[in-house]
Amino acid sequence: MGRNGGRPGTILTFFEWAHARRGHWGVGGVHHLALRVGSPEAQLNWKRRLMDAGVPVSGPLDRGYFTSLYFADPDGQVLEIATAGPGYAIDEPPDALGRRLIAPPAERLPGGRNEEAIARRTHPEPIPVITPDMTLDGIHHITGITDDIELASDFYERALGLRLVKKTLNQDDERTKHYFWARYDGGSVGQHSALTLFGWEGSRHIARPGAGQTHHIAFRTESPEEQAEWREHLLTLGTDVTTVRDRTYFESIYFHAPDGLLLEIATDGPGFGIDEPVNELGAALKLPSWLEPQRPMIERTLAPLR
Ligand SMILES: [Fe+2]
Ligand SMILES: [Fe+2]
Repeated sequence: MGRNGGRPGTILTFFEWAHARRGHWGVGGVHHLALRVGSPEAQLNWKRRLMDAGVPVSGPLDRGYFTSLYFADPDGQVLEIATAGPGYAIDEPPDALGRRLIAPPAERLPGGRNEEAIARRTHPEPIPVITPDMTLDGIHHITGITDDIELASDFYERALGLRLVKKTLNQDDERTKHYFWARYDGGSVGQHSALTLFGWEGSRHIARPGAGQTHHIAFRTESPEEQAEWREHLLTLGTDVTTVRDRTYFESIYFHAPDGLLLEIATDGPGFGIDEPVNELGAALKLPSWLEPQRPMIERTLAPLR
């Protein structure tokens, strides 16, 4: 699978549930997901392009480790476009990330920000086309909400081998914690690997599933053999994990985080090129073989893409 062939770390999927009621974020759910952009200049281009299209955008907000734009899709899913850098080593050594709780400086908190200047910042010219430098290069991070951030930390470290790379406070609500985990070798943090949680300790404001809410988050694993090892490891820890499900383009196992968030570990392969040429991905409606006999009925009942 080539660079542009739907590689892991760049994939977003949506279920269509006609007439689904709106969901809402809360404990055990996802607050927002962030896509990665290469530079602050390209990020401002996105702000201009989205706002010209009538999409309200907030930011760019200096989050210290990156800069963030926020908006919502038509279902209300909160999306962020985040810059790749400057990264997590701006306020602690790169070989000792995530060791202590770092309070953000006042200028990054609501009272210390110049909200009017932030709102005014945009690219001076319209952006009629998405230029290569604006490419959204996959997942930057996904942020959920938990009611027990230390329990969550133990889970993501012990069960999934992620490492804490930042312990800080929510920069929009400094009364609550915000922790970041990622693939981290003690020197550098892996791209597309960051999961972050807002800590709403003891909150009973549970996420409501539905349109605009993330259904689940998938982590990748290289092979079915490695996936089987993850499954055994999870079972050893007492995590209730499904059997392997064949998803045609990958194989998946599912389990829940302690706060209720549904997680998946999916194999990299065989990939989206298994049933259509890589240069024609997404052009045709693909059905699993067991649904192929019902294709005429399915095609009749699907809502057209707009
Ligand atoms: Fe974020
Ligand atoms: Fe999935």
